[in-house]
Amino acid sequence: MKNKFYITTPIYYANAQPHIGHAYTTVATDALARFYKLQKTKTFFLTGMDEHGAKIAQKAKEESKKPQELVNEVSDDFKKLWQELDIEYDNFIRTTNPEHKKAIQVSLQTLYDKGVIYKGEYEGLYCVGCEQFKNESDLVDGKCPDHNVEPEVMKEESYMMKMDERQTELIQKIESDDFKIRPEKYKKEILSFLKNNELEDLSISRKNVNWGIPLPFDETHTAYVWFDALLNYLTGLGWNGDVNKIPDFWPANIQMLGKDILRVHATIWPIMLMHLGIELPKQLFVHGHILSDGKKMSKTIGNVISIDEMLEKFGTDGTRYLLLSAGTFGEDIDITIERMVEKYNADLANGLGNLVSRVVKLSENIDFSNIERKIYDPIQWNKMFIESLWFDKALERIWSHLVQKSNKYIEETKPWELAKSSKKEFEKVMEKLVEDLYFIAQLLESFMPETSIKIKQQLETGKKEILFERIK
Ligand code: MSP
Repeated sequence: MKNKFYITTPIYYANAQPHIGHAYTTVATDALARFYKLQKTKTFFLTGMDEHGAKIAQKAKEESKKPQELVNEVSDDFKKLWQELDIEYDNFIRTTNPEHKKAIQVSLQTLYDKGVIYKGEYEGLYCVGCEQFKNESDLVDGKCPDHNVEPEVMKEESYMMKMDERQTELIQKIESDDFKIRPEKYKKEILSFLKNNELEDLSISRKNVNWGIPLPFDETHTAYVWFDALLNYLTGLGWNGDVNKIPDFWPANIQMLGKDILRVHATIWPIMLMHLGIELPKQLFVHGHILSDGKKMSKTIGNVISIDEMLEKFGTDGTRYLLLSAGTFGEDIDITIERMVEKYNADLANGLGNLVSRVVKLSENIDFSNIERKIYDPIQWNKMFIESLWFDKALERIWSHLVQKSNKYIEETKPWELAKSSKKEFEKVMEKLVEDLYFIAQLLESFMPETSIKIKQQLETGKKEILFERIK
């Protein structure tokens, strides 16, 4: 398919409530997907839930629920949050969907028939938090640094997938950007990992985890949760496992993910695809983590900022704006509620909100039947910034070039005085303000969709409504 754009988020573990990190990836993906939709590119945006594995089974047990019951509840919570954040996805894939499960079994059978999957034994360390096998070198003081727990020692019969026979090809594809990893530092990190370590064959089944997809050739095993989860990027497009019937939207143009799951996405995932004879995604885009007051959010430290708290304080578009403008997408970013309140008041309540209410009020009695600006094209204006995933810079530019300038222009020209002294001058000033504000509304369409519509409506109907209430 030509002129198409397929973008994905990771699928989120259905063992706990959605948090700010999930919202961060998803809002950024949504902004990008919306931007391609605005350009009339055929766009598909996939998100969803990762619902199998030991981690979820454990959580269900703790809560005395059936795993299916737990994942149904958590999936609904995520869906509700996406609605509140105005996320316009095209499909919400769940790995407990019967169609997904079937496609996983077909893929497993294909690889088994090819001899790429064979029966063996796995002996090593496993972190349930990551649902990943660990090397000694991944640990800090014997513990998984992401979960701060000692991994389990595992020794069991397992089906293995061959890895190292594809390593050279993988390195070459990453080096040549055939399979792009961005930002550049993550490409370097993965290349250095791949050049210094020989990939070990991967255990792709578990004998002691019942909550998973049974292997079609040995029902006493279930599929390793990452094998099951990664293929969501294809089943989410309706793929049934037939390697000769690849959906038109494939390959993904951009797959968004956090740095903690880069290695899986840059090793296991492409190797699975190579074995299956399927094209690799064009690009992985890796983002950093959100820190709260310089530290990883943790209940023990008490620095967790909840996404519900953000939504309550800042509303849908306030939250979207604060997440997207908090720092460079790709780097770790540090947030505090205090700084976000300050930024909300400065940029949204006093900046944009004030501008809208002043312009709408002043232009009350003027008829601007043709307010659409013809000089600039909002898509071209944003294009380089949004397509490079420089969301914070794109927003910063709209504020410094337009929002702040327009507010300053009002203060300098004092239109309320002009209205009394020179009707012609007054109308000229107002025309510029209305045009600029209309342009701002267009520029904000992918970042703050509801605000964009509201500004246009206020300009067109003169209806006044406060967009961003000041927070005291
Ligand atoms: N289920 C796996 C992904 C499977 S994809 C085939 C998973 N799920 S997750 O729910 O733990 O995390 C999903 C995403 O959220 C990851 O990209 C992760 O980086 C991101 N975040 C989790 N905490 C985060 C922050 N504090 N900040 C930013 N994003 C972080 O991993």
